[in-house]
Amino acid sequence: MPSPIRTERHGDVLVIVSDNPPVNALGAAVREGLDAAIRQGVADASIAAMVIRCDGRTFFAGADITEFGKPPAGPMLPTVVDTIEASSKPVVAAIHGTALGGGCEVALGCHYRVAVPSAKLGTPEVKLGLLPGAGGTQRLPRLAGVPLAMEMTALGDPIAAGKAADAGLIDRIVGEDSLEADAIAYAREIAGKRPLPRASERQARADPDAVAAFRKVNARRFRGFEAPEANVACIEKAADGSSFADGVAFERRSFAGLMAGTQSAAQRHLFFAERQAGRIDGIPADTALRPVASVGIVGAGTMGGGIAMNFLSAGIPVTIVEMRQDALDRGIGTVRGNYEATAAKGRMRPEQVEAAMGALTPTLDFGALAGCDLVIEAVYETMEVKKDIFTRLDAICKSGTILASNTSYLDVDEIAACTKRPQDVLGMHFFSPANVMKLLEVVRGARTAPDVLATVMALARRIRKVAVVAGVTHGFIGNRMLMPRQVEAMKLLMEGATPEQVDRVHVAFGMPMGPFQMSDLAGVDIGWHRDPARIENIRDALAAEGRWGQKTGAGFYDYDARRQPSPSPRVAEIVEDFRGRSGAPAPRDISDQEIVERTLYPLVNEGALILEGGFAQRASDIDVVWIYGYGWPVYRGGPMFWGESEGWDRIVAGLEKHGFEPAGSLRAKVKAPGAIH
Ligand code: 3HC
Repeated sequence: MPSPIRTERHGDVLVIVSDNPPVNALGAAVREGLDAAIRQGVADASIAAMVIRCDGRTFFAGADITEFGKPPAGPMLPTVVDTIEASSKPVVAAIHGTALGGGCEVALGCHYRVAVPSAKLGTPEVKLGLLPGAGGTQRLPRLAGVPLAMEMTALGDPIAAGKAADAGLIDRIVGEDSLEADAIAYAREIAGKRPLPRASERQARADPDAVAAFRKVNARRFRGFEAPEANVACIEKAADGSSFADGVAFERRSFAGLMAGTQSAAQRHLFFAERQAGRIDGIPADTALRPVASVGIVGAGTMGGGIAMNFLSAGIPVTIVEMRQDALDRGIGTVRGNYEATAAKGRMRPEQVEAAMGALTPTLDFGALAGCDLVIEAVYETMEVKKDIFTRLDAICKSGTILASNTSYLDVDEIAACTKRPQDVLGMHFFSPANVMKLLEVVRGARTAPDVLATVMALARRIRKVAVVAGVTHGFIGNRMLMPRQVEAMKLLMEGATPEQVDRVHVAFGMPMGPFQMSDLAGVDIGWHRDPARIENIRDALAAEGRWGQKTGAGFYDYDARRQPSPSPRVAEIVEDFRGRSGAPAPRDISDQEIVERTLYPLVNEGALILEGGFAQRASDIDVVWIYGYGWPVYRGGPMFWGESEGWDRIVAGLEKHGFEPAGSLRAKVKAPGAIH
């Protein structure tokens, strides 16, 4: 195998080039080549300075994540970075694209850094449950100061070249199209300068109050995660007067600890799961896509408006249809209000708001949808209404228009069957609020054409969603798995648990909210039969009393004027009343562990059944759905990843103990443990 690293002489400057597509990850061969090239430059008397640059779309985007967990090969990255820094001749990093993680650390090991204006620098390891493990936590604060180093490592977001230059991380911004030539010229300029600036030889200083404030401000964001605090601790170490060597040893121990833990394994799993989700089984990657230059939306309610914003923000014009002018006006007002709120926070410019609103055509004329390339129906969750709309769309839309339903439960095949073009119909299940939530379940009907599915999956990327293919089953992937959890949560109330306890267990697990908080947010009345006299369960009783959740100031909790919840004595009475009437046993103490086993194990079990039924392409897709659609804690890797880390034998035993029938595939896993696929 030829080395991905080559060297090119430009007079007395040796240019070291990496060519390791797609992102120049620092795999073993790259590290070996870099190490050898630096030694070559140092040994060659005719070389005065060196430049490291990368071919392709980016400077090194980090260590090669696929090597993690495998036996080490070639020189380790920290050693390579040390070799670069120790060079007796200046080394210049020439940065374009994204210098991330180990790539940023290579740059920090260089004596000088130049970058094109569009370049970005970052240490996103925290998003993989890690920290920069090649001296980055020690060099970064020494060069850029503690506050920025904390931000970059513990939050993990890259910074633009300009900001990096202001912070002293970049020595010169060079021409966007003349990186190599400018870097060589710069190398000649500094070739004779001594002593060489080495980050490891500098000092960093921390303001303890600022560090404490950083921890406090981000406490919510860091909740449950191990890596952010580990990053902050390493930065503190760099600034507490310890030697560079001691700091690096501290970093190394922390890195190894995180790498061996479940959280990082979960977060690395998600990295690949997210990318894998975009691949559609049985459809070639080069399938010709249908052009989508205009989108129609039926329904300007909360969902319709939110869906519209996704396309408008991506520069795709939207026609939105309502039945009544007041509803249309309200919907458009909400869209504008959302954009203006974003602009008020400085995340959008006023002209961008106007451009987005200018691309929105509100109308009462259904016929205006005729020429759209894609139409998404976002009306009530009633089959009859949906069928009526699809019949009308079938009659007016041009040939080739993709017809999508935003249904969250209903049978997409039944909807498709009322058209003469079922091959053009699928589900696009957005999650509320649709302009914020990253998940999109794309529901593949029995007759959905391959190019329709491929087009919508590609479109999802354009509107910055993470899309997962789901089959036609009640509730698709996410909501189908949610159902057993909600059912069991209600049973637990009858047996003696309180909404507060059940929710607390879910929040402690890492979910943003528990089942009852979720009901109150979504609306206790969702799916209610609307007959106050017909009370068959606790939910009916709440709905009959107008306890519809946050929107009416009362649900499973009572709410004050600021929507702060408190336990509800009335709900306790309702539960007590039900218990008495149904002859249920007296309430008992229920352990937190039982709540986990009875609400989360059945959810995992349902995931396994979904896989068995072929309604999800792969287990990791289910994990993506729960992380991006329901706030499953990233550090637990999604329900199917968690099931494996919990132990399939435990899950199966727990299910059986509580009277559930474990999926056959889970029983099989007890005999042959490992990941479920
Ligand atoms: N290692 C191995 N493969 C990687 C990789 C990495 N660091 N980064 C990206 N890839 C792969 C992706 O899996 C994907 O493969 P696929 O085509 O087979 O699915 C391919 O490269 C392209 O990646 P994207 O689809 O993500 O391409 P984008 O253009 O959207 O994004 C990127 C490019 C911004 C570089 C993005 O890939 C990214 O954020 N990568 C991860 C960066 C990172 O986390 N670096 C730190 C690594 S850990 C580390 O460095 C430890 C060190 O401190 C010791």
